[in-house]
Amino acid sequence: MNAPVAKAAFTAYPASMPADPRGAFRLGSEAHKTLMCRTMLTTHDPYKPALIDWPQLDPATQDRITSLPIWDIAVATEGRASMNVSTYAAGLADPLLKSAVDMNAFEEARHKLVLGDMVRAYGIDLVPEPAYVTPRDPEWAFMVTGFSECIDSFFGFGLFKIARDSGFFPGELVDTFEPVMREEGRHILFFVNWVAWHRANLPWWRKPAFALKVAAVWAFLIYERIDMAKGMGADNTKAQENNFTLNGSKELGVEIEFPELAAICLAENDRRLVVYDARLVRPRFVPAMMRLALRMMGKGKLLAASA
Ligand SMILES: [Fe+2]
Ligand SMILES: [Fe+2]
Repeated sequence: MNAPVAKAAFTAYPASMPADPRGAFRLGSEAHKTLMCRTMLTTHDPYKPALIDWPQLDPATQDRITSLPIWDIAVATEGRASMNVSTYAAGLADPLLKSAVDMNAFEEARHKLVLGDMVRAYGIDLVPEPAYVTPRDPEWAFMVTGFSECIDSFFGFGLFKIARDSGFFPGELVDTFEPVMREEGRHILFFVNWVAWHRANLPWWRKPAFALKVAAVWAFLIYERIDMAKGMGADNTKAQENNFTLNGSKELGVEIEFPELAAICLAENDRRLVVYDARLVRPRFVPAMMRLALRMMGKGKLLAASA
């Protein structure tokens, strides 16, 4: 199956869209599904990557950007995400849910186009892309992409702020990538609500298997990241690239200790997600782990400052 082509506008809207639900609702209810899908569909930004006019950068800036060791993995991650999410969408019967997941896949494909376009514009050398294989278990693949975005977006939001504030990323590039960051925020919001909604709608006898699946995805992702951190991959350069979101501040030329980075990520995460309807659940696991880590390191003051 081919990943969706994102050069054109998104058209896979449901034939009819229910109105926003009013008042409180139970997680897993029809109202919950409506709100999480509507939030995804109605906050879509219809920009077209082909219209991006890549700014001329001064040689030093261009060199700094092109030598960041992230572009191969970023393109491959977006390619895999669009394959995983679109495969899961293809098997859905509910028109509203299918449309929201289709939009998620559409935006991943568009991220890949934006990155590919930028890579070409600035002459970044990429290694050949991996083959994007249709996953055998679409739900597993969707969950791997969803939870992995929960980790990567958390750190990505903080690193993006650091790159912006330090001037590492010139203003024009910040403007170009801001919609991508906003979209990743919408994706993790949609995904954690899908997990809550899906779990609530499983019959009692399927819930334990789903809980095990969630735990297995986290174990897989944590193992993958520990493996990368140790640089145990077959190719050490790759390992460094994959681990960028965890130690990226060094690459951005900013000396920042882990507690300060965690505090910035927590604040950015809150800022980016607070704008959506308060009845939707928020990604909790990674922020909770970071808060715990800061408390254990005796950095409660930083936590208070980031709240
Ligand atoms: Fe993406
Ligand atoms: Fe995403």
